[in-house]
This record gives sequence, structure tokens and C-alpha cells, in this order.
Amino acid sequence: MRLVFVGPPGAGKGTQAKVICDKYKIPQISTGDMLRAGKAAGTLDPELVKTMASGGLVPDSAVIDLIRKRTENDDAKNGFLLDGFPRTVPQAEALNKLLEERGQKLNVVVALEVAKDLLMERACLRRTDKKTGQIYHLKYKPPPPDADLEHRADDKEDVVRNRIDTYEKMTADLLPFYEKSGLLERVDGVGEVAAVTDRVLGAIAKRA
Ligand code: AP5
Repeated sequence: MRLVFVGPPGAGKGTQAKVICDKYKIPQISTGDMLRAGKAAGTLDPELVKTMASGGLVPDSAVIDLIRKRTENDDAKNGFLLDGFPRTVPQAEALNKLLEERGQKLNVVVALEVAKDLLMERACLRRTDKKTGQIYHLKYKPPPPDADLEHRADDKEDVVRNRIDTYEKMTADLLPFYEKSGLLERVDGVGEVAAVTDRVLGAIAKRA
């Protein structure tokens, strides 16, 4: 099973990806997580750190390279879920080329749809447990008292607004691209997490 999750910041891609990956026993491959890990390790180009802090997209070449290498790992042989990649048409074309070289195909591209006002609230009140990677929300999924919480640097209100604008400008073309290739499934991302999971599973089942 090879899946892509597309959606604006705070749409719930990471939250849903964890459940789906557990179910299908495939790795969640998040370019955002990989870039943040590079930043934490001090190995990420300072220019990319600046781009992320402002809510822009890092250059296509940087993430394509990350995906090429990460999908070569043994754990990705039987499939993977790409969370937040591709985000532009050139990234999608590079992914197609890479899969073609390996004789592989995508099964489905799930687009999670959430209204803008909810996205702001979801991203700004998100907290992540540094040790477990578990995603919480101060209103919708309060963390336990012993969680070691992190507030993402790009989850400040002005940066979230820029990230949403960037998504609308840079990623909008991606949906028609995948619609044309017949892979796109649009899923309503509003409601209880479990209800959204059911819709995502329904969308995957149509293409599996
Ligand atoms: P990335 O880390 O990919 O961030 P993003 O796409 O902006 O997505 P988020 O992680 O903010 O949101 P999510 O959809 O995963 O939501 P979550 O499940 O956490 O990218 C960060 C940056 O890296 C980019 O800005 C860019 O600079 C760079 N980058 C990454 N990939 C790139 C690429 N391919 N090309 C170029 N640059 C790239 O949920 C959010 C909150 O909502 C949580 O608190 C959660 O608990 C809550 N929640 C989730 N579902 C529900 C629900 N159903 N009801 C109520 N609350 C919910």
C-alpha cells in the first residue's frame, strides 16, 4: 500500500497517518518531521531553517532527495504513507518518476479538507510529546500531566497564517494534478478523530 496524505497545516494528516500506518504496518514518512529532526540535530541548512520558520516551502530538490533516500529503507519495501509530500506539482512528478524507476505505483492520494478557521485553532493549540511523538491538542485532545510537551516553532499564529497562505498558493495545483491521474480521494477532516479515520479508511478501501 502506497499512500499520500495532502492537506493544509493542521488538517490532521499526522494524527490520521499514525492510525493508518499502525493498521497497514507501513512507515509514516513525513518530510516535516525529517526536516525538524535535521534542524534539531543541527544538520539542516540554515537557509531551510529560516524558510520553515517563516512558513514557506523548502526547495523541491531538498525534500525530493529526502524522500528518495527514505523510501529505499527496508521498512518501506511493502509500502509507505507520505505525509506532507508531495506539496507541489514538480514534487509529484519527481515522485512518479521515482516510483516508475522502481516499478511501483501509488494506490491513493487522500486530501483532508478542513475549513480555514478550524485550521488556525488546530495548529496554534497543538502540542507534541517530545519523547513519544504523540500529537495532542489543548482543547480537543488534552495531554496527560506527565507529557513532555513541545510547541512547534511554526505553530505561532502569524506563521500558521503564512503556512495556510503558502498551502493555498503552492499546493492548490496538486489536487487537480492527482484528480487528473484518478488517484484523488477528498475526505472531510472535520469531526471526531475516529470518525475522520473511518472516512479515510473508506477512501483507501475504494482504491486498495
Ligand atoms: P509539516 O510538518 O508537514 O506541517 P504541515 O503540513 O503544515 O502540517 P501539520 O503538521 O501542521 O498538520 P497536520 O495536518 O499533520 O495536523 P495534525 O495531525 O498535527 O511541514 C512543516 C514545514 O516543513 C512546512 O511549512 C515547510 O516549510 C516544510 N516542508 C515539509 N514538507 C515539505 C515539502 N514537501 N515541500 C516543501 N517544504 C516542506 O493535527 C493538528 C492539531 O489538530 C493537533 O493538535 C491534533 O491533535 C488536532 N486534530 C487532528 N485531528 C483532529 C480532529 N479530527 N478534531 C480535532 N482536533 C484534531
